[in-house]
Amino acid sequence: MKKKKSIKRIGILTGGGDCPGLNAVIRAVTKTAIHDYGLKVLGIEDGYEGLLEQRAHWLSVDSVSGILTQGGTILGTSNTANPFKVPVSEKHRIRFEDHSAAAVRQFKAWKLDALITVGGDGTQAIAEKLSRRGIPVIGIPKTIDNDLSGTDFTFGFDTAVSIATDALDRLHTTAASHHRIMILEVMGRHAGWIALYAGAAGGADIILIPEKPFELKKIAEVVGERAQKGRRFSLIIVAEGAFERKGKPRVSRKDIKNPHPEKLGGIGEWLAKTIETQTGLETRAAVLGHIQRGGTPTAFDRNLGTLFGKYAVKYLCEGTVNHMIGLKGTSLVPVPLKKVVAKNKAVPENHPLVLAAASVGTSFGC
Ligand code: F6P
Repeated sequence: MKKKKSIKRIGILTGGGDCPGLNAVIRAVTKTAIHDYGLKVLGIEDGYEGLLEQRAHWLSVDSVSGILTQGGTILGTSNTANPFKVPVSEKHRIRFEDHSAAAVRQFKAWKLDALITVGGDGTQAIAEKLSRRGIPVIGIPKTIDNDLSGTDFTFGFDTAVSIATDALDRLHTTAASHHRIMILEVMGRHAGWIALYAGAAGGADIILIPEKPFELKKIAEVVGERAQKGRRFSLIIVAEGAFERKGKPRVSRKDIKNPHPEKLGGIGEWLAKTIETQTGLETRAAVLGHIQRGGTPTAFDRNLGTLFGKYAVKYLCEGTVNHMIGLKGTSLVPVPLKKVVAKNKAVPENHPLVLAAASVGTSFGC
């Protein structure tokens, strides 16, 4: 864990889907590195793609000034680039090659002492493998999905929850006016954190998450009972990865050049049609999509990004490598990358918000 070599030059990259707060991290890493430790900071472009294609530029206090409040990432990102699985077209098929040796060579060619990887499960899994090839890494947990182990919260999640809650509030008034069932589909492939937090905040009648496979019979029962009691509308929030008991998540598209080709989606529209057919109650679906991860970060995510950036540089300069910085309560702690990538963080069965939502009458459709 402790690294003896002194740190003088560090690289930073942002990988995976973009996320509000990325620029706050880039700014905090760069300013802390320059102000507090006199380091040089190389901004690698478009995630691991820049490492493979030798695309990067030096960051300065001036070049990161004014970006704190901006969404997206000034470095660019890629959620397909993986040095261990580079797609190569061969006749009519795609084959994946291991180019990690080239990534290590490039890291050395830039004379870097360490790499800060800002990303979710995919980015950190690659970082962990690169650490075993000799690149000293420090991870920073990013994803709107909040499904990364080793941290209470990832940055970007709070912003996504605010946007999803606002969407639910808006669907609430139109549902009430038209006496309809309205369904909001939000992101969350493996974990239902966004659906849970936004659903609880927006007073959804039903929250559907991948951790709790649903039963159509139960959903029909809940909306039917509400209708019988004179409640002429219902609000449902569903995570894209939610699925029926004995079923599986719905795939909306396949990108064969991506090492993880399946994109989830379509559960909202499918549910709307199915519920309407089964109950006779008019039902509509809306998909929030990439709106929930675009635009300005909330104050919480700006501050969390700033904390992660500062402490990543601090721990690194104190000799910690091959760890990710996690938030534990109000402390910033290093967590071994191996532990982080071993398992996604799912919503626990007895999470206090699950129990509180159930106590105020919210159904989980099971
Ligand atoms: O990892 C965050 C996430 O928002 C997932 O919930 C979603 O499935 C995925 O990214 C979609 O990303 P893209 O459309 O960029 O591939």
